[in-house]
Amino acid sequence: MAGNRTFTMIKPDAVKAGHIGNILQKINEGGFRIVAMKYTRLTPEAAGQFYAVHKERPFYQELVDFMSSGPIVAAILEKDNAVEDFRKLIGATNPAEAEPGTIRALYATSIGENAVHGADSDENAAIEGDFHFAKTERF
Ligand code: CMP
Repeated sequence: MAGNRTFTMIKPDAVKAGHIGNILQKINEGGFRIVAMKYTRLTPEAAGQFYAVHKERPFYQELVDFMSSGPIVAAILEKDNAVEDFRKLIGATNPAEAEPGTIRALYATSIGENAVHGADSDENAAIEGDFHFAKTERF
C-alpha cells in the first residue's frame, strides 16, 4: 500500500533565487499538508551522510558541496500516495526533461541545481524525515 508521507528539501539554488514562497504555494496547491518544516543549513558532513547512497557516483562531491552551500527548507509532507504524487509535482530530475508546470520546470536550472528534492520511496521518505526531524517537531 502506498504511504501517505514524503520528504522534501527546497535546495540552496531555489532558496538563493527567492523561490521558497512560490514552491510552498505549489506544494499547497498540490494538496499536500505540512507535517514538519524547518529552515536550516546542512554541514558538508550532514550532506555527505544524507546522500551516502550516491557515494560512488561521479557527481557525489559536487552534490555534497552544493547541498551544503547555503540554507535549505526541509519538510515532511502528507497526502494519499505522497511519494509518487510529489515526484509528479516536482518533475524529472533533469529540468530539461521536466513536464511544463512542474516545480523543476519552473525553478530548476540544471540536473545538479534542481531546486527541490523528493524522496523516491516510502522507506526513504521515512529515513530522510527521521534524519531532519524529531517526533516532537511533527504536527
Ligand atoms: P535529488 O532528487 O536530490 O537526489 C540526488 C541528486 O543528485 C539529484 O536530486 C540531483 O540534484 C543530483 N544529481 C543527479 N544526477 C546528477 C548529475 N548527473 N550531475 C550532478 N548532480 C546530479
